[in-house]
Amino acid sequence: MTIHIGANKDDIADVVLMPGDPYRAKWAAETFLTGAKCINEVRGMLGFTGDWNGHRVTIQGSGMGMPSMSIYANELIKDFDVQTLIRIGSCGGMQGHVKVRDVILAQTASTVATPSSTIFKELNFAPTADFGLLHKAFHAAEKMDVDVHVGGIYSSDTFYDERPDLNKEMQRHGILGVEMEAAELYTLAARYGRRALGVMTVSDHLLTGEALPADQRERSFGDMIDIALSAAFA
Ligand code: HPA
Repeated sequence: MTIHIGANKDDIADVVLMPGDPYRAKWAAETFLTGAKCINEVRGMLGFTGDWNGHRVTIQGSGMGMPSMSIYANELIKDFDVQTLIRIGSCGGMQGHVKVRDVILAQTASTVATPSSTIFKELNFAPTADFGLLHKAFHAAEKMDVDVHVGGIYSSDTFYDERPDLNKEMQRHGILGVEMEAAELYTLAARYGRRALGVMTVSDHLLTGEALPADQRERSFGDMIDIALSAAFA
């Protein structure tokens, strides 16, 4: 048990999928896992452990934003010895060729700052995905005929953004999408020698204003979870 995760050490698998939304953790566990058992309810940040194709996997909500992700990823890594952490979430599209419903595999995650920034001082650390996971996720997505993009994303601290100039710079430098968690996850994985990847479904678009209707979200989010599970266990 930790401050934020009320589970025993052996309740949590080596591989953890992390949606921001705890109810998406519940939906994903009920939809994709067999024998799923709720292993965390502290603060309503639900977590479940079950089996996927004979592999044990945990799906634990991370909450929104890097401070919340930092809490759950720190405890999963340091107290539960989790080896593989895959963020599954939504993001806003930032390039014309990236469409709503497409999947982005985040090779890098640029930021203004993460909860880890103070330790780097003047260094601009480059948070990077695990190449093995990225490679397997890409092949899984191609096999599933999903429209997939691999490249840099932007981990922002704000959803209601007051700095359109920063978005413009990100877009000018080829950043594919914006979300709020991956950079801290990648930084922690690097620090503790674990594997991390962000698999994101484009749920809205900054250039077009388009947003995925509620009834179409499930199918697209399902693709992303299949890709994440295939990457973890391929
Ligand atoms: N901004 C930040 N995070 C997001 C967005 C967005 O537009 N869409 C989904 N997550």
